Amino acid sequence: MKRALVLYHSLFGNTKTVAMSLARGIEELGIEVDCMSIGEVDINEIPKHDLIAIGSPTHMIRPSKEMKEFLNQLRNIELRGLFGFSFDTRNESRMNKRSLLVLENSAARSIEGMMKRLKMKIIKPRVSSIVHGREGPLDIGAEEKFHQIGREIGTILTN
Ligand SMILES: Cc1cc2nc3c(=O)[nH]c(=O)nc-3n(C[C@H](O)[C@H](O)[C@H](O)COP(=O)(O)O)c2cc1C
Repeated sequence: MKRALVLYHSLFGNTKTVAMSLARGIEELGIEVDCMSIGEVDINEIPKHDLIAIGSPTHMIRPSKEMKEFLNQLRNIELRGLFGFSFDTRNESRMNKRSLLVLENSAARSIEGMMKRLKMKIIKPRVSSIVHGREGPLDIGAEEKFHQIGREIGTILTN
């Protein structure tokens, strides 16, 4: 049986919510899924999965400090050849749109970059979900969107 691991960091719960929707979608394809925060995971268990999905809130256009520290730890384990998927939550404001012209306002971009440097296979390009205000709520339809992405990824993984 294929195994997937969905990891997240979340200050206000929004990234956790979409992570859980993603996990539920993957699980529906008959895949064994572990979904937990980066603070809960045993780093040595990570390579035992076929797919690693990692999500973070966007802080200062990049992953949160906690997520950046966690990503650095991944250099110590062998993830080459495993499937990877990255996601984030972020705000959409006029300022963000302007900053997009220079640097992408997305935690997932950095996570995906790290996955590529670790020679993981990107199963699907990164996806962002919009949060209104700092604490939420999530954009309408975000949970369903991530549920469907989970099913999509699960389908690729089982084929
Ligand atoms: C310290 C801090 C910095 C933030 N910086 C950004 C940013 O650069 N771009 C953005 O779109 N949202 C930014 N936000 C909004 C977060 O993306 C939002 O709080 C997050 O998506 C909520 O997810 P969570 O509930 O999982 O913590 C910031 C929030 C905090 C608390």
